[in-house]
Formats: sequence, C-alpha cells, structure tokens
Amino acid sequence: MSNRTFTMIKPDATSKGYTGAILDQIIKAGFSVKAMKWIHLSPAQAGQFYEVHKERPFYGELVEFMSSGPIVAAILEKDNAVADFRTLIGATNPAQAEEGTIRKKFAASIGENAVHGSDSDDNAKIEGDFFFSGLERF
Ligand code: CMP
Repeated sequence: MSNRTFTMIKPDATSKGYTGAILDQIIKAGFSVKAMKWIHLSPAQAGQFYEVHKERPFYGELVEFMSSGPIVAAILEKDNAVADFRTLIGATNPAQAEEGTIRKKFAASIGENAVHGSDSDDNAKIEGDFFFSGLERF
C-alpha cells in the first residue's frame, strides 16, 4: 500500500473561491502536501490527463470543463492515502456524497464536482508524474 495520492481542486471550486477552505479541510484531515501547483490546463493537456475516459459520453464536456479555468494540482501523503482521501471527498456525484465531505459541501454536480482524487495507488503515481517532476516534489 502506498501512502500517497494525487488531487486536483477543479475550476468550479477555484472560481468560486473555495480553494482555501478545501485545502484547509484536506490538511486538517491529516494529509501533508508533498507537491503543489496552480495551473490552467489547455484542452489538449486536460484531454491527455483524462484519456482513460476517452470513450465515455461525457469526455468532451469533462475536457472542456477542466480547461475552463485554473486548477490546483497536488500530491498528498498520509497512511492509506488513496482510500482515506476518497472518503474525505465523498462520492463522485455530490448528490450521493456523505454530509461533511468536500464534494457535499463544495460541489454542484457530477460533472463539476470540485475535486479529483486518485482511485488507486497505480493511478496516484501516474497522475502525480503527469504534473510534477522530481524537482517539484519532496
Ligand atoms: P474525477 O474523479 O475527476 O474522474 C473522472 C471525472 O469524470 C469525474 O471526476 C467527474 O467529474 C466526471 N464524470 C464522471 N461521470 C460523469 C458524468 N456522468 N457526467 C459528467 N461528468 C462525469
């Protein structure tokens, strides 16, 4: 089991001014930040990141949304990071998310759901490597 996961605070949340509150909740839950950047993805970059969803009907909408404004990308560390972070953020669809979770508090819809969290240790590594060089993390 790895102790790292990868997250993005998505354009809906950054544009509504939720970045600070979301980071505060993440840090208070015991995650430490090992890398972080504020970045505006191009459609090509967003498309590459979400390439695994290329055949899904929502892919075009997802790429357009993720390149519509700045995001915060970060590598986070904690014991059991992938599973604990997914518990902290709640279900992909905020309507089904538990009370108190980040998506329940800050997300509007399944498409614009405030935060991303890796779904496995392997994807946490792939996704962190997509955004960060060795120099940009510790
Ligand atoms: P995320 O955890 O970043 O991983 C894939 C994303 O696709 C997901 O969050 C949602 O934002 C988006 N997504 C998943 N299902 C749908 C859907 N049915 N309609 C629109 N977007 C979706």
